[in-house]
Amino acid sequence: MKLQNKDLLGLATIKTEEIELILDTAARMKEILSRPIKKVPALRGRTVVNVFYEPSTRTRVSFELAAKYLSADCINISASASSVVKGESLKDTARTIEALGADAVVLRHPLAGAPQLLAGTIAAPVVNAGDGAHEHPTQALLDLFTVKEKKGSLKGIKLTIIGDILHSRVARSNIWGFLKMGATVSVCGPATLIPKDVERMGVSVHHRMEEALKEADVVMMLRIQLERQKAALFPSLREYSRLYCLTPERLSLAKPDALVMHPGPVNRGVEISAGAAEHQRAVINEQVTNGVAVRMAILYLLSGGEG
Ligand code: CP
Repeated sequence: MKLQNKDLLGLATIKTEEIELILDTAARMKEILSRPIKKVPALRGRTVVNVFYEPSTRTRVSFELAAKYLSADCINISASASSVVKGESLKDTARTIEALGADAVVLRHPLAGAPQLLAGTIAAPVVNAGDGAHEHPTQALLDLFTVKEKKGSLKGIKLTIIGDILHSRVARSNIWGFLKMGATVSVCGPATLIPKDVERMGVSVHHRMEEALKEADVVMMLRIQLERQKAALFPSLREYSRLYCLTPERLSLAKPDALVMHPGPVNRGVEISAGAAEHQRAVINEQVTNGVAVRMAILYLLSGGEG
């Protein structure tokens, strides 16, 4: 089986079988990560270009490692060090990158829809590495992979996502992904940080953390995205933290084997305490490691590889 589209732009439109294909392929890629020499020739001679118009540690580095472990060449371009600062448009930058020989482009951009625009402009596969508050599909896929690895199955899993849902592309992609895989999803946060029509996606909404944590198998904490807020949406970070910070005491309200997840970057003491971030059930670092395997699977499958 192969992926149906040339690009990976989001989980809203992807088929469940395609998610399963990516997760199964990622499991085989993870085996490569445990070898003394983490290198296979799958993408030898290919070039992956990372184009990041926003800061990133996890996503950019893991795409670079994924490309290198598959023997592809990898080039990194940041907006501040490119001709974007001289006024070049995204389309012209993309055409230039393609003319230089890119076989796949990974794009992070502050504007929702930028990867779609790019995908319609160039022939090479485009991977969305986060577009505004829209989607972050590879983050959700690594989250799905991590939960499946820990729990054995995604069917029937109760996921609760707590924090700044309104500005979160991670929340949006995870909602699509977990629902497609048979999980139930609830979101929690102050009313000002919950999108008005979010129930229409098929999730339930809580405003009290104690309610949201009840019976949860997976607790996913999100940071407050101050960089995307156009107005003050809560009184202060201190007040927010008093009501929505995950502590070991609050975690005890979830199921005894509930996982603690966070896409990072973590703001300790705001949305999660040090005790919860380092809890024995926290899988935050495993999410990062799994990100490499999942991104290897995506680059491999988009380059024509079969599951
Ligand atoms: N989770 C995530 O996207 O992290 P980065 O911004 O560091 O890539």
